[in-house]
Amino acid sequence: MGLSSKIAAFTPAAVARAADALRRGELVGMPTETVYGLAGDAADDAAVAAIFAAKGRPSFNPLIVHVPSLAEAAELAAPCRFLEAAARRWWPGPLTLVLRRGASCPVSLLATAGLESVAVRVPAHPAAQALLRAFGGPVVAPSANRSGRISPTRPEHVMEELADAVALVLDGGPCAVGVESTVLDLTGEEPAILRPGAVTQAMLAEGLGVAVRLAAADEAVKAPGMLQSHYAPALPVRLNARSAAPGEALLAFGPESGGGASLNLSPSGNLEEAAANLFAMLRALDTPPYRAIAVAPVPEEGLGIAINDRLRRAAARP
Ligand code: TXA
Ligand code: MG
Repeated sequence: MGLSSKIAAFTPAAVARAADALRRGELVGMPTETVYGLAGDAADDAAVAAIFAAKGRPSFNPLIVHVPSLAEAAELAAPCRFLEAAARRWWPGPLTLVLRRGASCPVSLLATAGLESVAVRVPAHPAAQALLRAFGGPVVAPSANRSGRISPTRPEHVMEELADAVALVLDGGPCAVGVESTVLDLTGEEPAILRPGAVTQAMLAEGLGVAVRLAAADEAVKAPGMLQSHYAPALPVRLNARSAAPGEALLAFGPESGGGASLNLSPSGNLEEAAANLFAMLRALDTPPYRAIAVAPVPEEGLGIAINDRLRRAAARP
């Protein structure tokens, strides 16, 4: 079987095949509205171990559990006073909630890295919804990239990263959001954002009616995936660039920085468009003849906060 034949158009037959693969303990490329996930049966220790092995991911870094709705999420977690309000407002959607693990939570302890908590998300993408409902149990799905690399936002990216690990990749098209979900920790006194995303601090504070903090960098141990160097292209990345130096690709943003740019995240300066393009454009420029990638400034507001978070990690060298 050719590698590209592992990419399956999103049809009922392909969803059934993907659900069967999960039941056999195999892994599947699952589209979500944020990025593509490397999906496996959350209750199957061997499938979870295969995910860590395929990604080269440290086993202390826990995985997000995906379910089709609040009802299934509530079965995994202990009661939480913010859960319903958050779910009503943002699920299905790009928000992951870190909750206290419920007494009868079937999720593999390996998936949650032995923590007392479990991260739960209800994705909005119709292909993810169809797969989760067809499978009928919780599904772990880290971004379908090798550990530390750029997250995939197209089915071909999953094949570039993890072709051998997947039984198939459901083709859900390009991801509409383009950066990973906001991770909100609800296990403490007040809600804390462990990873910025499309659901912003201001939106969360307004929707939950309480103060929401941004977790400090040294709390990143709580979301061990938030290591400083992450989302990294192979080439060095230089931030806040106004122009390209010799050998550099220029990734522009907005109308001003257009001239001489290799690619532009959003010629009109739209942050949603920029987020959706971010990982695909970094991936496209991460190749000779370029020797480095220079990225124009992106405003630190709204989705720009998540974009800049990912760009800083892309620029940090391990
Ligand atoms: O948008 C997304 O969330 C994508 C799609 C596929 O759903 N998934 C994703 O998964 O980005 P991953 O594994 O690449 O990132 C999960 C993040 C990591 O930073 C991890 O440390 C954190 O969530 N996390 C998972 N479980 C946690 C827990 N119990 N407590 C704190 N952080 C947790
Ligand atoms: Mg990831």
